[in-house]
Amino acid sequence: MASIERQAKILQHKSWGNYHRLKILAPEIAEKATPGQFVMIRINETFFPLLRRPFCLHHCHGDEIEIFFKVVGQGTAQLAEKKEGDFLDIIGPLGRGFSLPEKPDKRPALLVAGGRGIAPFVFLAHELKRLGQSMIIFYGGKTREDLPLIEDLEKNGFNLRLSTEDGCLGFKGLITELLEKELPSLNPACLYVCGPEAMLVEVARISRTWRLKAEFSLEARMGCGFGVCYGCVWPIRQGEKIEWTRICLEGPVFPAEAIAWEMKR
Ligand SMILES: Cc1cc2nc3c(=O)[nH]c(=O)nc-3n(C[C@H](O)[C@H](O)[C@H](O)COP(=O)(O)OP(=O)(O)OC[C@H]3O[C@@H](n4cnc5c(N)ncnc54)[C@H](O)[C@@H]3O)c2cc1C
Ligand code: FES
Repeated sequence: MASIERQAKILQHKSWGNYHRLKILAPEIAEKATPGQFVMIRINETFFPLLRRPFCLHHCHGDEIEIFFKVVGQGTAQLAEKKEGDFLDIIGPLGRGFSLPEKPDKRPALLVAGGRGIAPFVFLAHELKRLGQSMIIFYGGKTREDLPLIEDLEKNGFNLRLSTEDGCLGFKGLITELLEKELPSLNPACLYVCGPEAMLVEVARISRTWRLKAEFSLEARMGCGFGVCYGCVWPIRQGEKIEWTRICLEGPVFPAEAIAWEMKR
C-alpha cells in the first residue's frame, strides 16, 4: 500500500551536470519500498507541471529515500532547481519491483544500465549484497558525463564494467556489445536491465540467445502512477494472450519473456 508524504524534506542535493541526486526524508515510503519500485513526485504547486513525474527509488535507508534523475524537460529542470530544506509531495512506493534470490547463487547477477538507467540499481545492488548475492554492474553511456555514479559505486565496493560510445572511458561502444563480449566467461545467474528502449530490445535478444533469466524495468509516460488513467500500457503476454497492461500497477519490472516487443514496433 502506497503512502502520500506531502511534506517530504530534501536533505541533500548533489549534481553532476545534467544529473541530480536528491536525498529526501520520507519514512513511510522508505519503510515499505523494495528495489525496482518507484515514486510519483509533484514538483511544484504551480500550473506546470500539472502531473506528477515518476522516478525509481534510487536508494532507501532508515527514514530516507533517494532519487537520481537526468534533466530532460521542464519538470525535471524544475526539480533540479530544488534546494536542501525544500519540500516535495511524494506518493510511493508504487508498482512491482525486481525479484530477489531466495538464496545466493554462486554465479553473479548482472545489472545492466544505460545512462540514467542506473537509477534503480543502487538500491538493488545494496539489497543483493545484503543477501550475499555476488554481482557485476554493467554501466554504459554516450560519454564520461553520462556515468556520474562511478566513484560512488566503486567506493561501495561494487564490481563495475564500463563503456562509453566515444571510447573516453572503459570499453569503446555500446554496453550491450560489452555484455555480449563478456558473457561467455561470466555464466551469470540472471540479468537485471534498465535503460533506453533500444538497449532493452538488444538485451532481450541477448538473453533469448543465451537462455538467460532476465528482468527489465520499463518506462512510459505516466499520468497517475496507480492504475487510473491507462496512460502507461505496454503489450505484455498473459498466458497465451497479449494484453495492453498498465505498467504502473503490474510493473514497471517484467520478465524478459513477458514483453511482446513485436507489438511495440
Ligand atoms: C516508472 C518510471 C521510473 C522512472 N525513473 C526515472 C529515474 O529514476 N530517473 C530519471 O531520470 N527518469 C526516470 N523516469 C523518467 C522520468 O519520469 C521522465 O524523464 C520525466 O517524467 C520527464 O519529465 P519532464 O517534465 O522533465 O519532461 P517532459 O517535458 O515531460 O518530456 C521531455 C522528454 O522526455 C521524454 N519522456 C518523458 N517521460 C518519459 C518516460 N516516462 N519515458 C520515456 N520518455 C519520456 C518525452 O517524450 C520528451 O521527449 C522514470 C519513468 C518511469 C515511467
Ligand atoms: S500511469 Fe495511470 S494507469 Fe498507469
